Amino acid sequence: MSDIGGRSFFVATETAAGTNKPTGDLNMDHLEWTKDLNTGVNVIDKQHRRIVDYINQLVDATETGDNESISDVFDGLIDYTITHFTFEEGLQEKAGYEFRSAHQRVHKVFIKKLGEYKKDFDDGNVDAVIQVNRMLRNWLINHIKNDDADYVPAVQKMLGTEKKSGWLSRSLGKFFGGSDA
Ligand SMILES: [Fe+2]
Ligand SMILES: [Fe+2]
Repeated sequence: MSDIGGRSFFVATETAAGTNKPTGDLNMDHLEWTKDLNTGVNVIDKQHRRIVDYINQLVDATETGDNESISDVFDGLIDYTITHFTFEEGLQEKAGYEFRSAHQRVHKVFIKKLGEYKKDFDDGNVDAVIQVNRMLRNWLINHIKNDDADYVPAVQKMLGTEKKSGWLSRSLGKFFGGSDA
């Protein structure tokens, strides 16, 4: 854990104890959506579910061994995650969430790591898929359960008072082209 801006964050450059080195084993289990992943903000939960779908698609693509499919899913996952993070940061900004700049920084590190794994994969290191799968399961899930959960009270409060202004639907339209997923 790292102290950033007065709060502890799990940064993507860290991995859970003992999971630093690639073992060559890919966890092929599908990641199941469990209740403890719900933040309680519907719009965010939908987006997180979509990311979990991408993780499972990446597992499926890896199972086929088709590099082109893996690459396509990988790109889709990166794109969607960037859009989700940007949307989430906008929500935090609007809500005046105290740790928003630290939260943004940990998002940034994660996106950088994702990009590095993708480049590695493009350069011919197929193990990058194993590593990214592990990072998604460790870091992303931890981030959703802890760091994202932390901003929820502030965002819920803001959404409660913003209901009539249409800010949320405008924001969804801007990032997701009129759809919230
Ligand atoms: Fe999130
Ligand atoms: Fe986040």
